[in-house]
Amino acid sequence: MEKSGNMSIKRHFSPEKRWLLGTTVVCLFGGALFLAAYVSIPETPLFCKSMPGFLAKGSYSGETLQRNAIVHYATSRVVPQQSLDEIRVSFDVLKAKSPCNFLVFGLGHDSLMWASLNPGGTTLFLEEDPKWVDTVLKDAPYLRAHTVKYRTKLSEADDLLKQYPSQPECSAEKPFLRGNTKCKLALNMLPWEVYNKEWDLIMIDAPRGYFAEAPGRMAAIYSAAVMARNRKGSGVTHVFLHDVDRKVEKVYAETFLCRKNRVKSVGRLWHFEIPPATDSSPQFC
Ligand SMILES: C[S@@+](CC[C@H](N)C(=O)[O-])C[C@H]1O[C@@H](n2cnc3c(N)ncnc32)[C@H](O)[C@@H]1O
Repeated sequence: MEKSGNMSIKRHFSPEKRWLLGTTVVCLFGGALFLAAYVSIPETPLFCKSMPGFLAKGSYSGETLQRNAIVHYATSRVVPQQSLDEIRVSFDVLKAKSPCNFLVFGLGHDSLMWASLNPGGTTLFLEEDPKWVDTVLKDAPYLRAHTVKYRTKLSEADDLLKQYPSQPECSAEKPFLRGNTKCKLALNMLPWEVYNKEWDLIMIDAPRGYFAEAPGRMAAIYSAAVMARNRKGSGVTHVFLHDVDRKVEKVYAETFLCRKNRVKSVGRLWHFEIPPATDSSPQFC
């Protein structure tokens, strides 16, 4: 009887079927391991409303950002450089617009605050110093940041301002950034995401502009003006510029962001509301 039982097993499980059975067991085991790893990833629950898949670096929920921001600012002795009154200017706009697209030039002690004031929105930081990016993201992996290479130096600010009107590639008529190698004021090598999104708010608090070899904020100001003028969606682009007590920030803001668009001046911060360009004007202002 036993012998015939074995015979029957052998008959049902031919070498091909045994191979198939083995493969199935391996797949099931592998799948179980995969699911176990998936469940153990923070912020990636197995059963959620919309299966998000693996989260990209920086894709944390607004709640996570806010929880971490509370603990960070409650325990840190280092505070952001902007004063409370200056912060309140962008805070009020974020309160009305969030969730929105918020582009911030510079990573600093205020970054976690800006990201957590835009829960559910996109807050993206552009930072000149790759080491500083690593330092900040090590402690705050919730932030999304890209390194930006600037082609300018603060010492060139006057010359760039004199030269730009005679450079067709810098013209306000059809200004563009991506691939604009000829206009040094255009940030031409940003990650695609920066060009493909319409930014509702742009904060310019970097790059550094307090010594001759520093990049200066000329290209950030020019590029913010181009992004705002090229906006296709409804409404204006809110641009916040810090350190307007400095000559370069002041002159470049008046040239590209325009006095007529300035809606607030608090401390060292100017707030502009820039409408999309309706005509192909050769002038920014
Ligand atoms: C003028 S700071 C603005 C800082 C920001 N608003 C804040 O409250 O911290 C801008 C730039 O300074 C540099 N920076 C700021 N803090 C730094 C630090 N602790 N170490 C190195 N670089 C720093 C970064 O390149 C940054 O983009």
